Amino acid sequence: INNIAVLTSGGDAPGMNAAIRAVVRACSYYNLDCTGIYRGYQGLIEGDFEKLDARSVRNVINKGGTFLKSTRSIEFKTKEGRAKAYENLKKAGVDALIVIGGDGTFTGGLLFNQEFGFPVVGIPATIDNDINGTDYTIGYDTALNTVVEAIDKIRDTASSHNRLFLIEVMGRDAGDIALNSGIGAGAEEILIPEEDGGVELMMESLEKSKKSGKTSSIIVVAEGEKSGKTIFELAEHIGEKYEEYDIRVSVLGHIQRGGSPSCFDRVLASKLGVGAVEALTDGKSNIMIGVHHQKVVHVSLEKALKEGRKLDKELRRVANITSV
Ligand code: F6P
Repeated sequence: INNIAVLTSGGDAPGMNAAIRAVVRACSYYNLDCTGIYRGYQGLIEGDFEKLDARSVRNVINKGGTFLKSTRSIEFKTKEGRAKAYENLKKAGVDALIVIGGDGTFTGGLLFNQEFGFPVVGIPATIDNDINGTDYTIGYDTALNTVVEAIDKIRDTASSHNRLFLIEVMGRDAGDIALNSGIGAGAEEILIPEEDGGVELMMESLEKSKKSGKTSSIIVVAEGEKSGKTIFELAEHIGEKYEEYDIRVSVLGHIQRGGSPSCFDRVLASKLGVGAVEALTDGKSNIMIGVHHQKVVHVSLEKALKEGRKLDKELRRVANITSV
């Protein structure tokens, strides 16, 4: 292998720049060429490439977002799109591809590898932490800290006014952000996609809160929670039963995806970036570089995409105990 290309795709995540940097620097360390691809798979189809060297990634480790930019390419989902991408890589003399992103990114990478036999390695980066086979994805820790900081601020105003706040956090299919930030910020109830009956539990816990004399409450709701109600409908539902509550809704939205990455995410991104280049120079392909018990691990892309992640029951138990 002489020339490794790198791209970021899907929803951005803080720490993607640190991962690109680690890939570029590892290539430089091992005397390999590195090709940066702008705008994810769309840039791959359009040939939006640039050679990167060790100095191209100065001053990026601390920056949120991704300087290579990101897209969710519709065209890459077509056979014609992927064929164009393959031709561009051949023309540029690229021998292997590192894709940084979440499940959509890995699905595209896997298909590309299966169709053209082109070596692909994935680096998990999404604030959702919803990839199988890695304890953490890049961006998750930063997002958690952002959410906890935001909820702390909301708590100040909630308690000044004796208000009940419903706070929506990201997580279409995974409750990791909601559950962990909910515990970290001391929420009364947490609604997550992995559990049914969240609304009933929320109503029970509000009843208990009322009896125990709580004057304000924080409820964290993951965007993918199961009831099918929007957060505003949930607020109405509570308001119908408890007229005495002064309820407000706060949707944190994309603020969760931005910001300077935490030290944890920078270190994780650096380990995974170096790991990805070393896996390719060792002749590996079709894998994700993850982390398990602090160690870098190789997981097949197929396994990374499988739905095998389980809810951490201990966390739910702790949340229930600490919110009495
Ligand atoms: O995949 C990460 C994520 O942040 C999800 O939690 C959220 O549902 C989604 O991206 C929103 O992404 P966008 O607004 O970019 O479509």
